[in-house]
Amino acid sequence: MASSLFVRKSLADCEADAERRGGLKRSLNKWHLTALGVGATIGAGIFATTGTAIVGDPSRPGAGPAIVFSFLLTAVACGFAALCYAEFAAMVPISGSAYTYAYASIGEFVAWIIGWDLIIEYAVGNIGVAIGWAGYFRELIGHFGLDLPAWLATDYRTAHDAFRTLAATPNDPVTQYMASAWAHAPHIFGLPFIINLPAVAVVALITIILVIGIKESADTNNAMVLLKIGIILFFIAVGLILIKPHNWTDASSGGFAPNGFAGISAAAAIIFFSYIGFDAVSTAAEESRNPAKDMPFGIIMSLVVCTVLYIAISIVMTGVAPWKMLGTPEPMITALQYASGPPGLLNASRFIVALGAVIAMGSVLLVFQLGQPRIFFSMARDGLLPPVMAKVHPKYKTPYVGTILTGVFVASFSAFANIAEVVDLTNIGTLFAFVLVSAGVIVLRHKEPDRPRPFRVPFVPITPLISIAACAYLMLQLPGVTWMRFVAWLILGLVFYFFYGYRHSALRRQSLGMTRVATGESTSSGV
Ligand code: ALA
Repeated sequence: MASSLFVRKSLADCEADAERRGGLKRSLNKWHLTALGVGATIGAGIFATTGTAIVGDPSRPGAGPAIVFSFLLTAVACGFAALCYAEFAAMVPISGSAYTYAYASIGEFVAWIIGWDLIIEYAVGNIGVAIGWAGYFRELIGHFGLDLPAWLATDYRTAHDAFRTLAATPNDPVTQYMASAWAHAPHIFGLPFIINLPAVAVVALITIILVIGIKESADTNNAMVLLKIGIILFFIAVGLILIKPHNWTDASSGGFAPNGFAGISAAAAIIFFSYIGFDAVSTAAEESRNPAKDMPFGIIMSLVVCTVLYIAISIVMTGVAPWKMLGTPEPMITALQYASGPPGLLNASRFIVALGAVIAMGSVLLVFQLGQPRIFFSMARDGLLPPVMAKVHPKYKTPYVGTILTGVFVASFSAFANIAEVVDLTNIGTLFAFVLVSAGVIVLRHKEPDRPRPFRVPFVPITPLISIAACAYLMLQLPGVTWMRFVAWLILGLVFYFFYGYRHSALRRQSLGMTRVATGESTSSGV
């Protein structure tokens, strides 16, 4: 049994699957791939989670203005992992992400764990993005004189926390608003009913768009990325005028790094969320003109671009307002709210940033909401998930069952979940996937030293080991409750695998000569 857990899908099999999906046009160059990575990466992480990272929460200290070091720390950890992703992406230039790499190189069991884990990265991550989107959406409609009652625009935990802390900060408008959710919510069975309606609505809308089918086009993506970068540069430019260096060093607030390295590393584990997505470049491998060279370039360059932007934003954000005020789900808006400057400029900037954030996060939602059903699709086609997940709509030709299930899952949780908890879970799951991919590089170098590798991670095994250590370090910064949720998720995955996937695996059946029609292609087993 142990060796059959590591049955591998041959590259020929992967390519045949890709062929069946219909050959994709190889039209993307290395800059298109970079744009794809940047487009999938810049979203709720920078726009929404930075507030908690700067200020902290009851379970961990914040970084304060030293958040800039948190961004650097996480960028370095992601950089090592990116090199490992690049080796796989160039070696297995088939779309389908880490799941496909693992299936083709290490074996089914690890592929299953990664596929199961990717649900956390894609679907759970999107719950966080939807909640972040909702916060900026409320700010945006506020500029048109519209508002929602707070009990329709937040979550239970945020409302309860605000209600408890209102006495300490009675004049803070954000706390007042969130606390009003608790005070004014209707009650059902004696419990306040609080729901994040905009988050549910945006997920529902995107699900409908994806079921009907959209034409993904590199041009639209490039335009979207330019817009995102434009908004961020705008925020940085306005911020540069408003910076008061005193905000970085104010001794009465604890100075530049009020909680020292503990605050910096706790924040690094939170803002890891803002880096998730560069790995999505690998999903375009089949459309890349020269995957061997351009995949590593796209993965690494998108990480570099995001790191530079994030560092600039964090310097500006903590420079324009006292860092202690920034602990909201819309920290960029809050920074402009507490900045001192011409009111007209501040108000117009808030509008522009809110509009940009809504579009930026909308596009991340789209990318991940599109990616998840396609991962389900690959797993179902391989027999590891029920075949219904690979069902294609007769008219729209989209994997509609997986798309709708993903939509229902994401929308249901975004209705009630707290963004910080969702982000923590996404981070631990994605960091674990990075650990597995990095370990995969070492294992495969050992088992198959001669396999052609157009891109080689330098200094193996040192580099992947650093990647593993850095990701594990960030995982350890996350709260105990996140670990418990993650372990429960993995156990559920193992149960599902042994009761379903192991028995229905198309590859195992094929290699046992049971049912699958012989294709003439070879499969190998054992790592
Ligand atoms: N990196 C993506 C975001 O920040 C998940 O929204």
